[in-house]
Amino acid sequence: MSILSSTLSSNYSPQPRSTQEHHRDLYISVDSNAASHSRAHRRQFLLFQMASTMLSLASASASASSLSMHDTLKGKVKIGSNSLSTGFVKTKSFGRVSMSVAANVSRFEGITMAPPDPILGVSEAFRADTNDMKLNLGVGAYRTEELQPYVLDVVKKAENLMLQRGENKEYLPIEGLAAFNKATAELLFGADNPLLKEQRVATVQGLSGTGSLRLAAALIERYFPGAKVLISSPTWGNHKNIFNDARVPWSEYRYYDPKTVGLDFEGMIADIKDAPEGSFILLHGCAHNPTGIDPTPDQWEKIADVIQEKNHIPFFDVAYQGFASGSLDTDAASVRLFAARGMELFVAQSYSKNLGLYAERIGAMNVVCSSADAAVRVKSQLKRLARPMYSNPPIHGAKIVANVVGDPTLFKEWKAEMEMMAGRIKNVRQKLFDSLSAKDKSGKDWSFILKQIGMFSFTGLNKAQSENMTNKWHVYLTKDGRISLAGLSLAKCEYLADAIIDSFHNVS
Ligand SMILES: Cc1ncc(COP(=O)(O)O)c(C=O)c1O
Repeated sequence: MSILSSTLSSNYSPQPRSTQEHHRDLYISVDSNAASHSRAHRRQFLLFQMASTMLSLASASASASSLSMHDTLKGKVKIGSNSLSTGFVKTKSFGRVSMSVAANVSRFEGITMAPPDPILGVSEAFRADTNDMKLNLGVGAYRTEELQPYVLDVVKKAENLMLQRGENKEYLPIEGLAAFNKATAELLFGADNPLLKEQRVATVQGLSGTGSLRLAAALIERYFPGAKVLISSPTWGNHKNIFNDARVPWSEYRYYDPKTVGLDFEGMIADIKDAPEGSFILLHGCAHNPTGIDPTPDQWEKIADVIQEKNHIPFFDVAYQGFASGSLDTDAASVRLFAARGMELFVAQSYSKNLGLYAERIGAMNVVCSSADAAVRVKSQLKRLARPMYSNPPIHGAKIVANVVGDPTLFKEWKAEMEMMAGRIKNVRQKLFDSLSAKDKSGKDWSFILKQIGMFSFTGLNKAQSENMTNKWHVYLTKDGRISLAGLSLAKCEYLADAIIDSFHNVS
């Protein structure tokens, strides 16, 4: 049986067909392309005679092989047989291409199934669970006390303003909305920071935190070839993907101490010291994900000392500004401390959490440079990298941010809503600690939960214990034991405490 069966365009048939039928299809396919070119037509006809011979040989010799015909422009033709993985017959005539495909062989045979994303895959599993007690603490998205998604009032107001003004949907420049870029840099560094007046910050709008990090990774790959990025162990799961995909080498520095469920400060400093000079040190600006453990102000100073000593470049990932403590300024303190030392640095920003704009994909990449001239050049290269990736960023989220930050009333309302969200998470954190302490009679100290900050708590549960949380208690979390307190209600704290205590003590 021959495997060539049809052309891709019009006469697809899944039935096995004879060699003659294949020849006819092949002929029709190219003949229609070449109809008005008689000399070319004769050449094509000769070609088909040759192809027919090869087809006969191919179908006679191996049932699972297919014949592929690659021709080139100017009438040069190559004919050869391909292995199973090539299911197309491709012909080209005067710039037009038609293809025939083998019915029972996919060109995508070599593409294996990708594993589910360790974070987003948790939500997929949660949706499939029909148990009433199920609880999704996997994804870092804010929920109300009723565990419903929340759209901030200021966002609705800003969107109404946009509708009233009848704003258009024209392309943005590659670097994004100017009003957004100004607002985002001011929020990050403080509106009166001399850096901004001196025009030493290259800011471009990015596709939220992830897209901004990816753009920076592309800049590193292009302009700092071979430079290493040091990331904390553990870190947000996507960091490794981002640098892997950008082909930027990375290694880890110690961060989490399982004995204390706290910061391994000595290990962190030692590893940053050991990194090759000029490395990029990726730091979570606030509310470290997944541990919820941040350095103290004093420790930040020491981290800055080592980074300066080693001529490293600090690279901040700020995904939770205002969402961790409830204050935009407090949560930007680490970045501002480094900037005040006159260091050049990278800062990626996200508005997914603090404005609840998860799906708008709004964020920014900022590069602080030592001169305005360098900032202009860096910005030009960031734009150059963005152009072939996504051309220009989306406008909707950028306008929301610019409207909220640019309007003193809305800005004030946003701060109040952010405090409310951060406050709800703090209350849940306290209640979880209280429930664990009251229910667990083993004397275990659960106070690490109160020392953590932001939307996540690193419970210290291992993989097997985390699996017990899901399999027995229908509590969904990432396998590293991270829970999102933003997805927890006060009402569910006791249930969660039972699940944690059982998993901790009864699963090794
Ligand atoms: C540390 C960290 N960086 C960046 C992001 C980026 O998120 P997004 O791309 O939604 O802005 C997240 C989101 O969870 C995060 O936790």
